[in-house]
Amino acid sequence: MNEANALQVPTKAQSALFGTVLDHIARKVAEDEPTLGVEFPHVTAPDGQWIRLPASLSAGYKGETWSHGNWLCGFWVGLLLTSYLHTGDQKYLGWARERMRLVAQRAQDPNTHDIGFIFDSSAVPGFHITGDPWYAQIALEAADKLRARLVTTRGGAYLASWGPLSDPRGRSASAIDTMANLSLLYWAANHSDDGSYRLAADAHAAMTANAFIRPDDSTYHAVEYDMESGARKRGYTYQGAFDESAWSRGQAWAIYGYVNSARETGKSAYLALAERLAEYYLRRLDGRQVPPWDFDARGADAEVKDTAAAAIVASALLELGRLHSDAARGGRWCKRGLDMLEALCRDEFAYESTHRGLLKHSCYSKPHNEGVTGATMFGDFYFAEALCRVMLPGKLRPEGARPEK
Ligand code: GLY
Repeated sequence: MNEANALQVPTKAQSALFGTVLDHIARKVAEDEPTLGVEFPHVTAPDGQWIRLPASLSAGYKGETWSHGNWLCGFWVGLLLTSYLHTGDQKYLGWARERMRLVAQRAQDPNTHDIGFIFDSSAVPGFHITGDPWYAQIALEAADKLRARLVTTRGGAYLASWGPLSDPRGRSASAIDTMANLSLLYWAANHSDDGSYRLAADAHAAMTANAFIRPDDSTYHAVEYDMESGARKRGYTYQGAFDESAWSRGQAWAIYGYVNSARETGKSAYLALAERLAEYYLRRLDGRQVPPWDFDARGADAEVKDTAAAAIVASALLELGRLHSDAARGGRWCKRGLDMLEALCRDEFAYESTHRGLLKHSCYSKPHNEGVTGATMFGDFYFAEALCRVMLPGKLRPEGARPEK
């Protein structure tokens, strides 16, 4: 692998479009921030307004029903930090710090892998941008909780995704989304010189590669493991159309996670796997820039798009291109990422002030009829991250496996 091809070169027109969209992001974020009180944007309602949740809402079972809690709160901090980087306006940094104080309590949440999403989008960039050790300490506390979710079996080790580890329902299950949470462990390994964070992440990536990927390179959303042997007992879905379907965002998390794992472990097999997963995604995309929420959805359901999946893949392909050892192939992946990002800016960005959030047509959960056609905080964050990769490279997060102290 090549550490850095620096290939994320947009055309002049793309550069102008991305700069304009970053202006709009900073404007929208500044309009929303004073309206939020102690709550955080979650998904937009059909009228275009944010549905908000407090950061304190933690994950857990209510009877038989699992609640993810507020796993999106850190992404808002990430958008404030993006807006600071783009504008240089200190007010965004001040807001980010105040918001981080509200989010910080979740670093103690022992019940969810989402702790990776929450802090990799907030405390990690907060530290990268400001150098303030307060951010790093919060990110490390969260990384400890994530590493503690490692379940070891005879066949390998995986991070359990949902629920208290004392509960077999949570302990035996892992989700493809967890691949995107590994970034927090890689950061912690680099920051602390404690390689056990990286070992845990690498073990999880290796076991996921064996258990989640179907022969055609599509992925299961979730897997239930035999906790002794580590064998897959079943693959199933929570947010996809059906257990054997190809949930597009799950595929996006997988691509994103293996690109990051390749960069952080130096294992070219992970990069090759990310390419196979991306090629599957492009085959099913079939010339479109935005996927349906599930590639196997049928009838009217197949018309429901997921711009969040598109944003996650755009961001991942830009990084895949940057890391690739073959400059020509790397350039092609970057171009795909840039074209996806351009399409999102041109066709899906909510320029109008009546629609809050950034990307229209994100789909949080079709089976639960939650956040089905509006903006989602995670979609908005990965969209902003992709824009930063192009317009502010290396500014939002550390770019490589270099220790950052
Ligand atoms: N939990 C991650 C997702 O909804 O994609």
